[in-house]
Amino acid sequence: MLEKLEETKQAGMSSLLEINDEDALSQWKVSHIGRSSAIMDVFKNMNEVPKEERGAVGRAANEVKQALEAAFTEKTAALREVALQHSLSEERLDVTLPGRALSRGRLHPVTQTLREIYRVFADMGFQVYRSREVETDEYNFQLLNFPPNHPAREMQDSFYVQTEDERGDNPILLRTHTSPGQIRAMREYSGENPDDPPPVRIILPGMCYRYEQVSARSETQFTQVEGLAVGHKITFSDLKGTLSDFARRMFGQDVRTRFRASHFPFTEPSAEMDVECFLCGGEGCSVCKGTGWLEILGCGMVHPVVLENGGYDPECYTGFAFGMGPERITMLRHRIEDIRYFWANDLRFLEQF
Ligand code: DAH
Repeated sequence: MLEKLEETKQAGMSSLLEINDEDALSQWKVSHIGRSSAIMDVFKNMNEVPKEERGAVGRAANEVKQALEAAFTEKTAALREVALQHSLSEERLDVTLPGRALSRGRLHPVTQTLREIYRVFADMGFQVYRSREVETDEYNFQLLNFPPNHPAREMQDSFYVQTEDERGDNPILLRTHTSPGQIRAMREYSGENPDDPPPVRIILPGMCYRYEQVSARSETQFTQVEGLAVGHKITFSDLKGTLSDFARRMFGQDVRTRFRASHFPFTEPSAEMDVECFLCGGEGCSVCKGTGWLEILGCGMVHPVVLENGGYDPECYTGFAFGMGPERITMLRHRIEDIRYFWANDLRFLEQF
C-alpha cells in the first residue's frame, strides 16, 4: 500500500513537470488531486485497509496529498509568472504613440449666428418667445393686415398642409415668416390683463417655409428672427436706436447703419436697415456689390390694425417690429455664396465653422 502511494506521488509529480499551460494544469488537477483521483480513492477506501496499517497508510496518504497540492500551487504560480513575463515583453504598450484624435461636434453656423442675436437682444432686455411653425392663414396673413389678394398669399408661395378640397377660407400652412408669432404673443400677454396689457419686448426665432424654386439665393426652409416691442410712447427713434445698437453689438462698435423707406402690410411706416459693409468697410466690394452697404433686416412701427388684432389699443400703445434672416447674415459674414449649403448636411461645409 505504501509503495502504491509512493507511485501515485511520483506519477503526479512527473506528469506535472511536463505541463506548460493553464488548460493542461486544470486537467492535471482533476486527475491527480480531484475528487476521483487515485489519492482521494485511498481516503475513500480506508475502511478496506487492515486496522493495524490504517495509521501509517493514513499518514502517508496525507503526506502525498499535501505534496501534490503544494506542487500544484507552485506550478500555478510559475505558469502565471511565465504568462506575465510573456505579456510584458510581447504586448508592450508604447505610451509615446500619438492618440486617436477625437472628432468633436460643433454648432451649425446658423445656430452660432442665432445665439449671437439672442445674446445681443437679451442684453437689451428682450426675451425669446417660441411660436408654432404650423399656422393658419388667419395668423400668417389676415391678422397681419395682408390684403386678400396680396401676391405673397398665392398658392405657389406657401406650403399648405391640407388638400385643396379641405382648405376653405382659413387653410393650415407652414408659416412663411415668424410674424404670426407677434399676434400669438400679443394675444397671450393681453389675455392676461385685457384692460391694461403689459409691455412686450420679445424676439421670435424659428424656421419658416416657402414654396419656392430652390436656388443659390433662396431655399424652401430658412430661419428668421422676428422682434417686437410694444408699450406706451414707443417711437420710430426707439426703433432706430435699438436696431443701430444691435448692429454695433453684432458687427462692431464702429459700424454705421442707414434706414430706407420700404413697405410691409403689418408696419406703418416701414423701413429696411442697411449696415455698412463689414467686409470692405464701406469701400465697395463684390459682397456689397460696390454699394458699401448690406441690407440686414426689415422693420417698422407696428400697424394699428395689428396692435388691435393683438389686443392692444392703438390709441394707448405703439410699438416697433423687425425681421431678419440669420442665413443671410451668416452668408455675408463668411462670404458663403450658396444658401443651399446650410441644410444640405455636407460635413465638408459644416466643419469649417
Ligand atoms: N415678415 C417679413 C418677411 O418675411 C420680415 C419683416 C419685415 C418682419 C418687417 C417684421 C417687420 O416684423 O417689421 O420678409
